[in-house]
Amino acid sequence: TSHPLALPVGVTLDRYIMNRQTAFAYATGELSQLLRDIALASKIIHREVNRAGLIDLTGGMGVENVQGESQQKLDVIANIRFIRALKNGGEACALLSEEDEEIIYTGNNNGKYVVAIDPLDGSSNIDVNVSIGTIFSIYRRVTPVGTLPQREDFLQGGQEQVAAGYILYGSSTILVYTTGCGVNGFTYDYSLGEFILSHPDIKSPEDGTIYSCNEGNLEQYDSSIQSYLAACRQQQYTARYIGSLVADFHRNLLKGGIYLYPATTKNPNGKLRLLYECYPLAFIAEQAGCKISDGNQPVLDIIPTDFHQRSPLFMGAPRMVKTLLDYMAT
Ligand code: AHG
Ligand code: MN
Ligand code: MN
Ligand code: MN
Repeated sequence: TSHPLALPVGVTLDRYIMNRQTAFAYATGELSQLLRDIALASKIIHREVNRAGLIDLTGGMGVENVQGESQQKLDVIANIRFIRALKNGGEACALLSEEDEEIIYTGNNNGKYVVAIDPLDGSSNIDVNVSIGTIFSIYRRVTPVGTLPQREDFLQGGQEQVAAGYILYGSSTILVYTTGCGVNGFTYDYSLGEFILSHPDIKSPEDGTIYSCNEGNLEQYDSSIQSYLAACRQQQYTARYIGSLVADFHRNLLKGGIYLYPATTKNPNGKLRLLYECYPLAFIAEQAGCKISDGNQPVLDIIPTDFHQRSPLFMGAPRMVKTLLDYMAT
């Protein structure tokens, strides 16, 4: 449902955020500022991404991150840019990042928020000019303001998110976020240096005909999932898989489809990380009318225990996800 003071397409993100702040009591201004700080970081990352091939930003660092993945230069740059923007912004007391094992303290112990981020999503696509993204998830801290943030600030569970969003660096750059009252998308106009409201109040279709998974892993999936995918092929659904979660998510959000990252023999809990991939996208998806499950329960209901824990993810048009879950239950 769109809110009474909905602003027209074409307003800037700054104005939109300001308007929401006056219209709702959800923020005292700090969350608004935090969202603006994130938008600033993403403009800087947009710039780095767009000229990566010119300034020696492609390729690997030659090291592994905490996930055991080979870290790309842009993974590291985006991480640094984000941390710096949030340190300077002052509203976040700590961050959790895919690229760092432990809590990153910003030094702003008076900040009321903590942020979990996937600074650069879709590493394998960086060097080949394919869409990549950034994902963020925001919580109000549970520890007292003024003290050092703790693990429990990040392990509150997906239902406690106060905002979540992503930036897709695609054929255009778009920032999509929610604070729990709908989902809105802002396309970046780099000539103005502004994000402009282009996709107000996004609602995802009830049903769809796109399915998205890494079908190269098919033999490793549970037989119920193999059967579901066979049915998708039988019905001549369209297979679409970019291999950047943000890009695959954004397409299916707008067009209607199902995204699957199931458990595999190699990754018994799937590959995607709960805190900075699954939770934030699940929050947005739910706001847009999608259904999101780990195969057993709604993803937002999973009780987190570890910063970098993984979860299977099935998400998209409610009818499609329901059909899949029926397959998985039998
Ligand atoms: P990241 O680049 O942040 O490490 O995330 C990679 C993720 C996600 O973006 C993508 O959808 C998925 O890995 C692709 O996995 P497969 O290569 O196994 O399909
Ligand atoms: Mn990675
Ligand atoms: Mn990722
Ligand atoms: Mn990443």
